[in-house]
Amino acid sequence: MKNSVPPSDGFPKYIINGGRALFGETEIMSAKNSILPLIACSAMIDGEVYLSRCERTSDSENMLNIMRSLGGRCRFADGGIYIDCRGLSRCRLGAELTGRLRSSVFILGPLLARTGRAEICYPGGCDIGPRPIDLHIYGLRMLGAEITESDDSVTCRGNLRGARIELPLPSVGATENIIMAAARAEGRTVLCGAAAEPEITDLQNFINACGGRVHGAGTRRIEIEGVRRLHGTSFTPSGDRIAAGTFMTACAICGGEVTVTGVNPAHLASVTDALRRAGAEVEERTGGATVRAVGRPRAPGRIETKPYPGFPTDLQSPFTALAACAKGTSYIIENLFENRFRHIPQLIKMGADITVCGRAATVRGKKLHGAETEAEDLRGGAALVLAALGAEGSSAVSGLRHIDRGYYDFCGRLSALGADIRRISQ
Ligand code: UD1
Repeated sequence: MKNSVPPSDGFPKYIINGGRALFGETEIMSAKNSILPLIACSAMIDGEVYLSRCERTSDSENMLNIMRSLGGRCRFADGGIYIDCRGLSRCRLGAELTGRLRSSVFILGPLLARTGRAEICYPGGCDIGPRPIDLHIYGLRMLGAEITESDDSVTCRGNLRGARIELPLPSVGATENIIMAAARAEGRTVLCGAAAEPEITDLQNFINACGGRVHGAGTRRIEIEGVRRLHGTSFTPSGDRIAAGTFMTACAICGGEVTVTGVNPAHLASVTDALRRAGAEVEERTGGATVRAVGRPRAPGRIETKPYPGFPTDLQSPFTALAACAKGTSYIIENLFENRFRHIPQLIKMGADITVCGRAATVRGKKLHGAETEAEDLRGGAALVLAALGAEGSSAVSGLRHIDRGYYDFCGRLSALGADIRRISQ
């Protein structure tokens, strides 16, 4: 597995000549959205942690820099990530680090559990609409933390004790922060209204592999019995269902036959269903799936994003690209994030016929043509690449720093499947 540093060229672009079918196999690595909380969780573990099958995305790099700044030792090696926080000595994170990624907020629970104090500047991340952290703060307060908020930072103090917590909406991040804090709090926590994403099950399995006692992940009610100490472990997170879904959608757009391996197809059930409605054949097997598609996709109809096991918001933009070039009209409803349609004006540059009204987009499928577009967030950027692969003619996609956050060597992987795509520096 490759673990080299991603290209750090100034303002790179993808140049894509569309219209090629995709054929071959691509191996999916550990889910970015599992790795990030697991790295943060390592802050409260008395031993070395190894996470296997990790790619060097810029989000993972930034998360490791956060751990280093706190005194942890981290390195990419053997196709994965080693983290050792036994020497952790600081509990404050400045804006320079937290501004780079939303997931910096995950450090609050583990740091508080470990040191009794955590102070972070507000997190940055994709601009996909307001991303409050009130539920994280609410959960930590319920566990006994004293929390003060200023204009730019949040400070938590205190010794944590188990509590009964009810989340008004199933926030993935808040569920993760509460589980991590509760895992080393005194006594038992019952968390109701929890998120049920596979990444939460990964976190539960990881903490239990370190000697913790967490049960119920994958349901809305999670019970956590706090333990005094967590020891190091070696752990393999689930394959990245969003990366897998991106390659599967690319195949449905371009035609061809693409197999994704290293991912649990059950995690992709809602996506598989939508791909089938779009006319693709999807064959699921243990540890992967094969997509076969011929010609232009059919409109998948209504796609409505929901918490797991509903259709994932992270694949809404790739599916908008599919709907934009499909035969027929689709309706895309984004229920989770207010500003997750930023790829649409870019798709319109490629000839897409899309009308947005609040959280709903009506997409009348058309043949798309090449254009110069710019990624403005991670998944929206992937959508522009997919649209360009399916379009007639040549396209340029810039704003690759967004895509690099979550897809390692996207260009190389797509080229290996037969796409005509290259990365250039300006
Ligand atoms: C995680 C994923 C992200 C995915 C999202 C939804 C990671 C690193 N990121 O993000 O890729 O798109 O789940 O599946 O795992 N909310 C509040 N208050 C809070 C927290 C969230 O109101 O304190 C709201 C959000 O504004 C949003 C909804 O809850 O409308 C869901 O957000 P959440 O599940 O927390 O997403 P993230 O954990 O940030």
